[in-house]
Amino acid sequence: MLAGHETTANAMSWLWYLLAQQPEARDACSPRSTMCSADRRPTADDLTRLPWTTACVQESQRYFSAVWIIARAAIEDDDIDGHHIRPGTTVLIPIHQIHHDERWWPDPETFDPTRSSLAMLSRTALDRRICRSAADDASASGRASR
Ligand code: HEM
Repeated sequence: MLAGHETTANAMSWLWYLLAQQPEARDACSPRSTMCSADRRPTADDLTRLPWTTACVQESQRYFSAVWIIARAAIEDDDIDGHHIRPGTTVLIPIHQIHHDERWWPDPETFDPTRSSLAMLSRTALDRRICRSAADDASASGRASR
């Protein structure tokens, strides 16, 4: 529990901070947009049906990684890009710098959830399927109560 507390709190704080600056992206995360007329709160089982929300979380973790650097101790001789690493050396992996390196992330200083391939799914087939199933549920319960 201790391990995940601060990381999760920081991740949520940065997610809300970034979404506060992009109301359209934020609104598309709301249960109303993603679950359409489904008259209930999302649960963990709905996670795979929330590709846009997932894309926003992933992009917020790219932008402001809750864990911005990690370390590894080399257990044997190694070579990284011509740099010799001796056993026992501590190697730092700068996650934040990697996430903001334009060799891997075009326009890295822009918070853009559409980078994620999950985002592509969101506003198209998947949402339509969820809408349809929510509408079917609504009309089925309407029929049942008549
Ligand atoms: C947004 C939330 C989280 C982020 C960004 C995050 C990030 C990370 C990262 C980067 C590591 C690897 C550190 C390393 O190898 O040097 C790690 C390890 C770990 N995390 Fe999280 N974490 C999150 C949430 C959680 C939660 C909720 C839990 C537990 C309830 C948890 C438990 C652990 C544990 C036990 C490890 C060590 C795993 C191992 O070394 O075998 N984390 N986390």
